Amino acid sequence: MEAEISSAVDQAGRLVAESTYVVALCGAGVSVDSGVPTFRGPDGLWTRLGQPSTHSYQVFLADPAAWWRQYLSRDADPARAELRDAIARAQPNPAHHALVDLERMGVLRHTITQNVDGLHRKAGSASLIEMHGNRTMNRCISCEARWPREETVIGDYLPTCPFCAGLVKSDTVMFGEPVPRGVLARCREEVERSDCMLLVGTSATVMPAAMFPENVEARGGILIEINPEPTVLSDRADVVLRASAGVATPALARRLRELLGR
Ligand code: APR
Repeated sequence: MEAEISSAVDQAGRLVAESTYVVALCGAGVSVDSGVPTFRGPDGLWTRLGQPSTHSYQVFLADPAAWWRQYLSRDADPARAELRDAIARAQPNPAHHALVDLERMGVLRHTITQNVDGLHRKAGSASLIEMHGNRTMNRCISCEARWPREETVIGDYLPTCPFCAGLVKSDTVMFGEPVPRGVLARCREEVERSDCMLLVGTSATVMPAAMFPENVEARGGILIEINPEPTVLSDRADVVLRASAGVATPALARRLRELLGR
């Protein structure tokens, strides 16, 4: 596989080495090699089991207690149960580790992930935004404080924020829920500084993440796609590594070590 993409890896490596502020936008495809399902495409979770309602957040707001009772019940809906069980078994794969290598080389300045599986954090990514949240955390919807789920006391009353007494929910951003203001502001800061964006394992179809590559491209930045399948951005990418993230990302990291002598 690597032989087929070696010239593209070399081309991508040279473009990344010449860039000054490289940001990665990651999606579910990064975690496929860790056994976590994607959402769209032939074997995607939403494709097989249906996408959650776009009113999920409004349902939570209408009756948070009922939502918590259902959320804490073990009979989660099949899609949530499959994702929960896959994430519980998952470990970071070579794609996650290669992104950490690129960060430690000083090449990758920031990783914005749409994944809620926590695998980038587990692999050691330090400059990281989990823009759709992290399923091991809870979050206050008022002050946006986040903390590990285990620390949330759940009684027969609603959990409230220990800092501002606001309403608490799982950190995972639901359909219909805006990305927390502070998180989106941080994403925008990083995107605005980027002159090269790695699109790793994302269909790049969900807002607001889908706007990030547009922003980089509009400012004349470089887009490099790592994905075994074509996406809406493939034709606009400067280089496409048509392979699994678990193969292409480590190959890119190795090429950059050679080019930069690090
Ligand atoms: N390596 C890299 N990419 C892969 C791999 C792989 N081994 N296998 C599949 N892919 C690609 C698919 O081709 C697809 O383009 O990963 C992408 C996954 O796309 P989606 O399933 O749409 O996932 P994502 O882009 O992360 O979705 C964004 O949508 O439902 C919401 O909150 C959910 O964060 C998610 C968001």
